[in-house]
Amino acid sequence: MKEWTKEERYRVLESPEEIRALHERIEGSDYRQIFHIQPVTGLLNDPNGFVWYGGSWHLFYQWCPWGAVHGLKYWYHTSSPDLIHWENLGICISPDSEYDNKGAYSGSALPGKDSVCLFYTGNHRDPDWKRISYTCMVKLYEDGRRYKLPWPLFGPSPDYTEHQRDPKIIYVPEKKEYFIVIGAQTLDKKGCVIIYRSPALLDGWEFAGQLKVPGFEDFGGMWECPSIEKISGQDVLLFCPQHIRLPGRGENTNHSGYILGEMNWDTLTFTPSGSFHVLDFGFDSYAAECAANIEDRDYAVLTAWMGLPDSSYPTDEEDWQGCLTMPRELTVRGRRLIQKPLADLTALRMEELDPGPGVLPRTCELEILSRGGDLDLKLFSHQDGSGGMSIHYDDSRRMVTVDRSGVDRRFNESMGETREHSLENRLSHLRIFIDRSSVEIFVNNGDAVFSSRIFPTAGENGFVLSDNASMRIWRLDRAVQDDFVV
Ligand code: FRU
Repeated sequence: MKEWTKEERYRVLESPEEIRALHERIEGSDYRQIFHIQPVTGLLNDPNGFVWYGGSWHLFYQWCPWGAVHGLKYWYHTSSPDLIHWENLGICISPDSEYDNKGAYSGSALPGKDSVCLFYTGNHRDPDWKRISYTCMVKLYEDGRRYKLPWPLFGPSPDYTEHQRDPKIIYVPEKKEYFIVIGAQTLDKKGCVIIYRSPALLDGWEFAGQLKVPGFEDFGGMWECPSIEKISGQDVLLFCPQHIRLPGRGENTNHSGYILGEMNWDTLTFTPSGSFHVLDFGFDSYAAECAANIEDRDYAVLTAWMGLPDSSYPTDEEDWQGCLTMPRELTVRGRRLIQKPLADLTALRMEELDPGPGVLPRTCELEILSRGGDLDLKLFSHQDGSGGMSIHYDDSRRMVTVDRSGVDRRFNESMGETREHSLENRLSHLRIFIDRSSVEIFVNNGDAVFSSRIFPTAGENGFVLSDNASMRIWRLDRAVQDDFVV
């Protein structure tokens, strides 16, 4: 596997022509997806700036053009009329100023009257490679014009380590003030959220304090991508604690999750009403982001990076990596977030197939109804039933276990090859979306979701389902264009 030098990783993209041939090569990959957002070349990680603005959805992603490597990051822009069909619009934020010289890192969006404001972390490195994080802003106008504020809104706080990033902009109407929450690390290396406030968007920003989250003072070493949302009338703190192991999550130490509770913007306290929950129980999910400004709905819309930090994937040798999850509908039920596939996704269904032959199309939706008891499902098995990814439900413990150690192309084994989650209710229903290199499993109408990358070989096109369940299969249509737009 290629060893990247720092110069190669942080090379500035001068012209689209430098990566056209790379795009043409990867376009032919067997693992290019047809209904998931994926990088035009190189590496995709976090979703950024997810927003409804000017009559369409806008979703950006962290993008390093050169290959499957974390290097110089751009914001790549995609848009959609309906959250299902997406088109590539090219680079929106380039790391071309002093303040973001080594990357336009993650952030969020706030729509205004004539433009949408994009807040992001300028990842500056000084000549000794010391990191200095600035909070920066770009205005994006409806006609596509962009204006980058020539100075940052604020620099890093001296009272935390160099790890301060991922601004989430929040307007709090009761206080008539804007807040920016930022993922940070205390000087004694504990993950936390710090908060800035201002009466105006472009200036007047001041440090307001560290978010108090009673009971979570020592929970991981850095919190990335924090956000505070109101979902179904409930306050939700979403964040990604790093350097911490959690039950059922193998050796993985990077998690995307949430706490339900109550946010008090006067005392800057988020009082939890329960414990930390993992958002997605599969292998590959991180840096989830909710779409901004959809307060008129009784649900939120969420997407995430279907990947993990510090990981490698079989497409690395093809010089690309990563995709986003399908956007999902989020509500709060009881003490949990419920995540459902968007209702309009049924529009992607093409012909319904007879499950009898046990052949899995490369892009399909499965719907499985259990008649009770334990359930065994194997996906991507060989035609003789061997190998594949196994999904086992143990009714006595209400435990779902997903095991991908049986696939031909194993990867990220060091993060653990099984994931477990115990359900609140008995298993009754599964809805599974399979694209050319991913699988998203929705359990019991949103009780739990498992998202994972999977890279089937030519012989891995079978499935096996235990007798106590029935299945329907639909072939799914393309919804995401793979055009070369830079
Ligand atoms: C999370 C993250 C963010 C950062 C971005 C850089 O995956 O590390 O904290 O802004 O990725 O690409």
